[in-house]
Amino acid sequence: MQYRRLGSSGLQLSALSFGAWVTFGTQVGRGEARELIAAAWDHGINFFDNAETYANGEAERVMGDAIADLRLPRDGYAVSSKVFFGAVDGPRPMQRGLSRKHVHDACHAALKRLRVDYLDLYYCHRPDPETPIAETVAAMDALIRQGKVMYWGTSEWPAAAIREAHKIARAQHLHAPTMEQPQYNLLHRERVELEYAALYAEFGLGTTIWSPLASGLLTGKYNDGVPTDSRLAQSRYTWLQRGVFGDEASRRTQRARAFTSVAEEFGVPPAPLAIAWCLRNPHVSSVILGASRVAQLLQNLEALDLSERLDQIAWDRIEAATA
Ligand SMILES: NC(=O)c1ccc[n+]([C@@H]2O[C@H](COP(=O)([O-])OP(=O)(O)OC[C@H]3O[C@@H](n4cnc5c(N)ncnc54)[C@H](OP(=O)(O)O)[C@@H]3O)[C@@H](O)[C@H]2O)c1
Repeated sequence: MQYRRLGSSGLQLSALSFGAWVTFGTQVGRGEARELIAAAWDHGINFFDNAETYANGEAERVMGDAIADLRLPRDGYAVSSKVFFGAVDGPRPMQRGLSRKHVHDACHAALKRLRVDYLDLYYCHRPDPETPIAETVAAMDALIRQGKVMYWGTSEWPAAAIREAHKIARAQHLHAPTMEQPQYNLLHRERVELEYAALYAEFGLGTTIWSPLASGLLTGKYNDGVPTDSRLAQSRYTWLQRGVFGDEASRRTQRARAFTSVAEEFGVPPAPLAIAWCLRNPHVSSVILGASRVAQLLQNLEALDLSERLDQIAWDRIEAATA
């Protein structure tokens, strides 16, 4: 495993980390979840990502129980949660968003579900137009001062909102956001590469990026339809198909097919190759992997070797195929 600093902080995250979205509490049972966490830990993964909204909190319960059961040393791993969407179907107004109240309540609920005394990373899962950014910055700062959170950050916030949070934090001597959690993969590059370009040097922003395989599209598994045992066949997640497959203009399916052909030509599996491409970006602190089976996770770990083994000509070919 490689370890990378989370932006300009001193926290050393594994370059590949592991997240619970879709899988824990929904797609895989508790035994499989435990095996996934155990395999990740055994291969040096030290960051486990979660959110209040994943399976309405059940993903955090399953992860918390697995980590406790495996007796992972609390000082050796980082666990996250995210606040915004709420942890119930049809949340009431106070059960969602980034108000001081919900940030506080959601943090304490996540601590219980994950069975920890503090969250290492705590994210605002989306911007909240109904709450002043200053209120959220103060709420996050309070949790850090209380020892309930180590680092706070954002997920899919526009660059201007991240800048505003830093301005407020600096003016009021509060803790500023350390990291962003944006989507980043060969088919979705703009925010990480262009919109945030100035923020890395300006604020030492770290990134823990999500969906490195575009929900599995870049594995080639959807090249000829939707396999029944895949994410996009899950009845609760059919809504995802539109975003993953895109429309005619985005040509996502054709670009993914072109990518898998290049991988085949190179004689390497497409999944770790797509993840390796994400690892090559020095502004990526950690690539959050998703996996519904241990075999997938083990294959994806090959990305570490591939990111260093292929030459620039190969990466240029890959980028041209997916442009
Ligand atoms: N902040 C946010 O808004 C946000 C949003 C989304 C995700 N996330 C975080 O990021 C994590 C990763 O995102 P993601 O799960 O979308 O990642 P992803 O890598 O794009 O997709 C993971 C899925 O692809 C399939 N897969 C993975 N490896 C494979 C392999 N080697 N061969 C074949 N299929 C493979 C599996 O699905 P199947 O086996 O079911 O097909 C797996 O669950 C999440 O768990 C979550 O923690 C954050």
